Amino acid sequence: MRKFTLLLVSAFFTMGMVLMMLTNEETIAKTKTKEIMLAHNQPTEHPVHKSLKIFKDRLEKESHGQIKVNIYPNGQLGSEREAIEMTQTNAIQMTKVSAGALESFSPTYSLFNMPYLFESEDNYRHVMKRQNVQDAFFKSTGDQGFLGITYYDAGMRNIYTKDKKIKDNKDLKGLKIRVQPGKTSVDLIKSLGGTPTPMDYGEVYTAMQSGVIDAAENNETSLTTNNHGEVAKNYYYTEHATVPDILIMNKETYDSLTKQQQKWLEDAADYSTKKHEVIWDKAVSDAKKTATEKMGVKFHDVDKSTFKATSKPLQDEFKNNPDTKEDYKLIEKEEQRYEKSKANH
Ligand code: GCU
Repeated sequence: MRKFTLLLVSAFFTMGMVLMMLTNEETIAKTKTKEIMLAHNQPTEHPVHKSLKIFKDRLEKESHGQIKVNIYPNGQLGSEREAIEMTQTNAIQMTKVSAGALESFSPTYSLFNMPYLFESEDNYRHVMKRQNVQDAFFKSTGDQGFLGITYYDAGMRNIYTKDKKIKDNKDLKGLKIRVQPGKTSVDLIKSLGGTPTPMDYGEVYTAMQSGVIDAAENNETSLTTNNHGEVAKNYYYTEHATVPDILIMNKETYDSLTKQQQKWLEDAADYSTKKHEVIWDKAVSDAKKTATEKMGVKFHDVDKSTFKATSKPLQDEFKNNPDTKEDYKLIEKEEQRYEKSKANH
């Protein structure tokens, strides 16, 4: 009996110790302010910076100061590739990059360079909101030391030229078009009939001004917030790709947060992504207005069907490539589901 009582007492004692240790860890994690360095390559007037600021403010408020986010804009810490590498090694904890820059870390992301992956911008927006779609991409870089946390709409990519006129795909022949560094960005422009020139975003303005490139491809905000409209006067709605921006985080840092802190972080990220949709739409219409009225840029429609048709072999490659096949099917299924739900309303 005495032995049993002793055993019971020691079991309680051990449990108590374990509990105390756990509570202590929780308390330490809570009381120590976590500082997060978040880098990105856009100026502070850019809509994505505004949404990242919403993320920061929300997270700092909801976590009662337990988590602090310091944003480093303008590519001041380096190119997108460098920022991803710094996030991998935890030199910084978060960065916002284009999905295009992530393909060399996880081939899954290359799917966004598939020409005409989405039937429309509306479909894209709907599909990107699906948790299963987000998980397929965001979790794909765990073994690379970072995770996707959320995405921001970065519109549709269109071609803009210094002076060359474009009506259909044949007009891209011999046209030197800047693309994001990465294999599938190169493949994409080749498939449309152009001559791709990979380079970092920060170099585009000067390259276009000096004639190293004749054109670039991006959303409308590039014309204004990055001043490309000063050198490129024609913007063509080829709508060849829809490449979102992705907010990524060092995995070790994420894992070191308490469950509650992870929840605050995810909620703040979701909140900023929702707000971003409205911010983005306004930014695009403001950019078109400013580019037209102040920079003399002209916006044109093109025969999109010729670009779609000529890039068909590349589309098929993405559909059959083992790296992208499953996620392509997932996106297709979600698009069909959405189309059906629209038809039923
Ligand atoms: C988009 C994206 C940037 C990226 C740029 C590019 O503007 O938001 O993050 O750097 O495309 O073409 O490189």
